Amino acid sequence: MTAEAGSAALEVEVWRGTDSGHFQFFRIPRRTHQTVLDVVSEIQRAHDATLSYRFACRVGMCGSCAMVVNGRPRWTCRTRVSEVAADGTLRLEPLRNFAIVKDLAVEMTQFFDKWKQANGYFEPGPAPEKDFAVVPPTGKERQAANAGIECIGCGVCYSACDVVAWEPHYLGPAALNRAWTLVNDVRDRAQDERLDAVSGGCGCQACHTHMSCTQFCPKAIQPTYAIAGLKRAMLKRSLRGGR
Ligand code: SF4
Ligand code: SF4
Ligand code: FES
Repeated sequence: MTAEAGSAALEVEVWRGTDSGHFQFFRIPRRTHQTVLDVVSEIQRAHDATLSYRFACRVGMCGSCAMVVNGRPRWTCRTRVSEVAADGTLRLEPLRNFAIVKDLAVEMTQFFDKWKQANGYFEPGPAPEKDFAVVPPTGKERQAANAGIECIGCGVCYSACDVVAWEPHYLGPAALNRAWTLVNDVRDRAQDERLDAVSGGCGCQACHTHMSCTQFCPKAIQPTYAIAGLKRAMLKRSLRGGR
């Protein structure tokens, strides 16, 4: 990547530390097509090898590179500096609503534990079919499942959610989106258990529909609508006289 001829350097502030720490300042050359992740990598390689951050694929697949960039959670490998730092300044912080391991790296365990709590795994039942199921692509359930299936587990929605900030036990938009995807999987045999898992004070009823998750998801997934779907499914179940 070449430095952009004649353009000013980028002024970058990076969080260093854990819950307590400070912002460290770096001046980095602006480069053509530079991403925010390129900036972080350049800092780590050329200026301070002790900087901690996380990435793997660099192409928007793995979900590991998310950070707060100029106040907003984003995936950094697909975020061009030119889109977010028109004035030539960047402030990089770890994702909110996660414990900080160090610098820009956060602890994801609680986030993925909540997927488990929401029964966010396929349950084929005691006698799974031997052959592949035929699920018509135009079916209502298949389309609802497809709408949420491309989640990469990046945590951007979870970092943006105020309810997670207020109530750390709230399952959060990603786990609930996963649950809704499975509620619409016609092959799954544990729907009652899953609806039970996402009900209660820290489940889908806690969502106040404020849409930050949907607004910021880099994969254009709409957890707010998934959560509304779970609420509808629960209501239908109770109208049918279910638990
Ligand atoms: S819509 Fe619900 S899950 Fe999404 S950010 Fe708002 S409160 Fe959180
Ligand atoms: S729903 Fe979107 S923002 Fe949330 S974890 Fe999945 S891909 Fe990331
Ligand atoms: S590095 Fe994999 S999504 Fe960004």
